[in-house]
Amino acid sequence: MQVHISLSGNNHMRISWITVFRTPAIIHYGTSPGNYTSSAKGSTNMYHYLKYDSGSIHDVVIGPLKPNTIYYYRCGNKSTQEFNFKTPPQRFPIKFAVAGDLGQTEWTSSTLQHIVKSNYDVLLLPGDLSYADMYQPWWDTFGYLVQPLASKRPWMVTQGNHEIEKIPKIHKEKFTAYNARWVMPYEESGSPSNLFYSFEVGGVHVIMLGSYAEFESDSTQYRWLMSDLKKVDRKRTPWLVVVLHAPWYNSNRAHQSEYESIGMKNAMEDVLYEARVDVVLAGHVHAYERFSRVYKDRANECGPVYITIGDGGNREGLDMWFLDPQPKLTAYREPSFGHGLFYVKNATHAVWTWHRNDDHVAVASDQVVLRNLASVSACYNV
Ligand SMILES: [Fe+2]
Repeated sequence: MQVHISLSGNNHMRISWITVFRTPAIIHYGTSPGNYTSSAKGSTNMYHYLKYDSGSIHDVVIGPLKPNTIYYYRCGNKSTQEFNFKTPPQRFPIKFAVAGDLGQTEWTSSTLQHIVKSNYDVLLLPGDLSYADMYQPWWDTFGYLVQPLASKRPWMVTQGNHEIEKIPKIHKEKFTAYNARWVMPYEESGSPSNLFYSFEVGGVHVIMLGSYAEFESDSTQYRWLMSDLKKVDRKRTPWLVVVLHAPWYNSNRAHQSEYESIGMKNAMEDVLYEARVDVVLAGHVHAYERFSRVYKDRANECGPVYITIGDGGNREGLDMWFLDPQPKLTAYREPSFGHGLFYVKNATHAVWTWHRNDDHVAVASDQVVLRNLASVSACYNV
């Protein structure tokens, strides 16, 4: 139960699931239903949190896999339930679905119903997943809720403040449940921590930063970011995308002047600008906001487009109030639940759309065509 998959290095997929009893961490898989021509073994862990004991949490990496191909798989040796997933394309076009601060409410269900219709390849979640907030069974119910989608397409997540779950003197370790249940490809990307990592898919290099890991210039995250950016080859991956939780640009009244936003911006904005990052996706604020290209609070044609998309549907509700007047740098803002689609058409152009849940048909409430900064000679010297 609670099956979800994530990209794991080149042409590989990590499959994660939980069993009540201890069973072997093994996946049987193949490209036609019921005919499992391959198998792979992995590892099992569990965790304790106050009086809660998790089930056995299994992680198995399978591959190499062919791109754009449906694989059928079975978890363990005795299960009769078959799942299937589709691998992402090797090259453009590729479609990312994006929804932060997801939670597990009726609004969440509505968001997921919209996302599933979008025929996306990979989901990006900029933090705040289950809103278990220390009540561990809610991590399990979140696992059940997302399984129909997350067992079929890779879900790539980073942490938000709701994943911390530290209780002073009682449970001193941070991110216990998150790190046990949502293992991401940090080792595959040379990172020392599950809280920040990168991956490459379909011509896009995606960096998942950790707003709640240390980020100052003497931190391991900062050093890892610098080394990861050195590996980026804009010929191999023309697009460069960053995902994090606490937004660096934000004109909502909620979450102004937090250290995780302002401190991280001060520490890392120059680095992302110099690297010509195309888009920065954030969550945390429960509303939608898109900025024009910006660097150091001024319009800049070579700066990233900053987007806040923390409107997945959590139980805290929407952040209804924006600062007045609307800043010139804000291109669009609205406090509604919804999701984003980042459709990368080719090496030079992509389309970003935002979809509001209240619209029962899939209409784009906000849409913009993005030109890849690596293809703009005034910004990027090849
Ligand atoms: Fe948050």
